[in-house]
Amino acid sequence: MAISVAVILVVILVPFSGVVNGKTKELKECDIYKGGWVYDSSYPLYNSSQCSFIETPFDCQQNGRPDHLYLKYRWKPRSCNLPRFNASKFLEKYKNKKIMFVGDSISLNQWQSLACMLHSRTPHSEYTLERVGALSTFNFKKENVSLIVQRNALLVELDTDDKSYGRLLRLNSIAEGDAKLWRGCDVLVFNSWHWWKHSGRKKPWDYITDDGEHMYKDMDRLVAYEKAMSTWSKWVDENIDFAKTKVFFQGISPTHDNAENWGSHDGKHCSEETRPVFGPTYPKENPAEKIVEKVIGNMSKGVNLLDIFRLSQQRKDGHPSTYGRPGKKLGMDCSHWCLPGVPDAWNELLIAELTRS
Ligand SMILES: *[C@@H]1O[C@H](CO)[C@@H](O)[C@H](O)[C@H]1NC(C)=O
Ligand SMILES: *[C@@H]1O[C@H](CO)[C@@H](O)[C@H](O)[C@H]1NC(C)=O
Ligand SMILES: *[C@@H]1O[C@H](CO)[C@@H](O)[C@H](O)[C@H]1NC(C)=O
Ligand SMILES: *[C@@H]1O[C@H](CO)[C@@H](O)[C@H](O)[C@H]1NC(C)=O
Repeated sequence: MAISVAVILVVILVPFSGVVNGKTKELKECDIYKGGWVYDSSYPLYNSSQCSFIETPFDCQQNGRPDHLYLKYRWKPRSCNLPRFNASKFLEKYKNKKIMFVGDSISLNQWQSLACMLHSRTPHSEYTLERVGALSTFNFKKENVSLIVQRNALLVELDTDDKSYGRLLRLNSIAEGDAKLWRGCDVLVFNSWHWWKHSGRKKPWDYITDDGEHMYKDMDRLVAYEKAMSTWSKWVDENIDFAKTKVFFQGISPTHDNAENWGSHDGKHCSEETRPVFGPTYPKENPAEKIVEKVIGNMSKGVNLLDIFRLSQQRKDGHPSTYGRPGKKLGMDCSHWCLPGVPDAWNELLIAELTRS
C-alpha cells in the first residue's frame, strides 16, 4: 500500500520537479520558493529519537502518529536544486556566530528543527541548552555556534503593567530590552502573526495605542498588524548593520483549521490528513501575507522574505493534529508542525538564502 502511494506521488510530481527549458539555473538566479514537494526516500533528515531535547508537542512520531509518508517530502525548486544539507559545513561556516529566531512558537518550531538537523548529524558534538526568561540558547560548544530563540510574539512593545491601562500594546514602539539583543546577531529570522488574531481571553493586551496618546480597547487586527510591521521595519532599517547581519522575515505560517479550504467536505480540520494538497485550487490568498510582502518590499535590500507561506499551505499533512499532546483528547493542533517535517524545509531554504547571498 505504502509503495503504491509513493509510486503515484512520483508520477504526479514529475511536472513539478522538471527543469525549465532543460536548464538548471544557478541558485542565485533561481526562485527557490516556486517548485513542488517531491518524494525522497532518504528523508527525513533526522529521527526525533536522535534529538533528545525535542519538545513533546512537536514529536508526533513519539506521540503515536501512525503514518510516515509526511516525513518523506523534500522541497524541490522548479529550476534549481537546493544545496544538500551538510551539518559540519554549516557549523564550520557559523563558527563563533549567532543565529536568532524572534517571534512566537512558530519560531520555536523552526529553531528546534535547525538544532535537531545539526545535532543529529553530529551526534558526538557537545552542546549546552539554556533557557533564561524569553530566551533559549542552543550552543554547539566546539564551533561555538549559538542558535537562539527569543519569544516575542508581537515584536512591538507590550507594557505589561501600565498604571492606567494594564497590558498596553504600543504599535509605534520597539522595546529596547528585546531589540538590543538583535544588534549583535549574524542572522536574524523574525516572524509574527498568530497572536494578532487572538480575541477574548487569549487577547494579549488590555489596551492598544498607535501614537501613545489615544488608547483603544481593540482595533481592526490587520490595521494593527500593518502598523506594528511598519514600526518593526523602520527600526530594522535604522538600527541593523546589514554588513554584519542578514535579516529575514518569515512569511505567514499557514494553519489548516478548515478542510473546506482545500475542497474536503468530510473533515473539519487537519486531522487524518496524510498527504499534501496538489493542484491549482489551493493556495489561497491571505491578507496578513499581503501585508508582510508589502512591508518587506519597501525595506532595504538587506532584508529578505523567507517566503514559506505558499509552499507550507500545501502541507495540510504536516501538523501534529491530535499527536501534539499525548493523552489529551481535546488537543487539535493545526498550527504548529511535526518535527521532523515542514520546518526542516524552511531551514533548507534559509541555508540556501545564506549560501547565495
Ligand atoms: C526512529 O528511531 C526509532 C528508534 O531507533 C525507531 O523505532 C523508529 O522506527 C524510527 N522512526 C522512523 C520514522 O524511522
Ligand atoms: C560536508 O562538508 C564538509 C566540510 O566542508 C566536507 O568535508 C564533506 O565532504 C561534506 N560532506 C558531504 C556529504 O558532502
Ligand atoms: C563565542 O562566540 C561569541 C559570538 O557569537 C563570542 O562573543 C564569544 O566570545 C565566543 N566564545 C568563545 C569561548 O570563543
Ligand atoms: C516605505 O518606506 C518609506 C521610507 O522608509 C516610508 O516613509 C514609507 O512610509 C514606507 N511605506 C510603506 C507602505 O510602508
